[in-house]
Amino acid sequence: MLQIAPSILSADFGALREAVQGVSADADLLHVDVMDGRFVPNITMGPQVVEAVRKATDLPLDVHMMIVEPDRYLSDFRQAGADMISVHVEACPHLERTIDQIHQLGALAGAAINPATPVEMLVDILPELDYVLIMSVNPGFGGQKFWPRALEKLARVRDLRGARERPLIEVDGGINAETASQAVAHGAEILVAGSYVFGAEDPKARIQILRQS
Ligand code: DX5
Ligand code: ZN
Repeated sequence: MLQIAPSILSADFGALREAVQGVSADADLLHVDVMDGRFVPNITMGPQVVEAVRKATDLPLDVHMMIVEPDRYLSDFRQAGADMISVHVEACPHLERTIDQIHQLGALAGAAINPATPVEMLVDILPELDYVLIMSVNPGFGGQKFWPRALEKLARVRDLRGARERPLIEVDGGINAETASQAVAHGAEILVAGSYVFGAEDPKARIQILRQS
């Protein structure tokens, strides 16, 4: 079943609780973008914000770590309420150990990959992953244009997975009604959408449109 994960990066941070509660009945997951100003050029939020969001909703929290040395913070984010944690392949020289740590903490573990990183980097660790996050923009900011070659990458992960049920395939960046349909046709099972959902007057309606993909 297709899962929709609104990204709070595009929500009104002055009214975050209301924004989160406004989508809680319709979304499947809530996507939280953690940026450190080093792995990506932007700085966003830390465990305290995750804790606040945790109190505002029962939705599983999908924490996307766009930071260097994510291992140092896994436990903090898990304690703050993260149910799913993805780390970037490009930021993890010992990815297998990092994924194992996420599992030890009791969360689902995902590997995220930037547009220029081939999905084949994940071949040997695929059986240990709960999900793969294919970036369809260069990470750092909401509201960017979908990078069409991410579609081939989605299909390649689906091929690599073969007959197994895991890892699930998540896509993040530039998702709207049109790109969502394309992404689903190429294998996406979790759609992250920031500006398309929270930039709209009626975020719930946008989630329902994505669900038709
Ligand atoms: C980008 C983040 C995304 C972002 C997506 O670096 O990882 O999750 O919120 O925003 P949109 O959907 O506006 O491209
Ligand atoms: Zn993200």
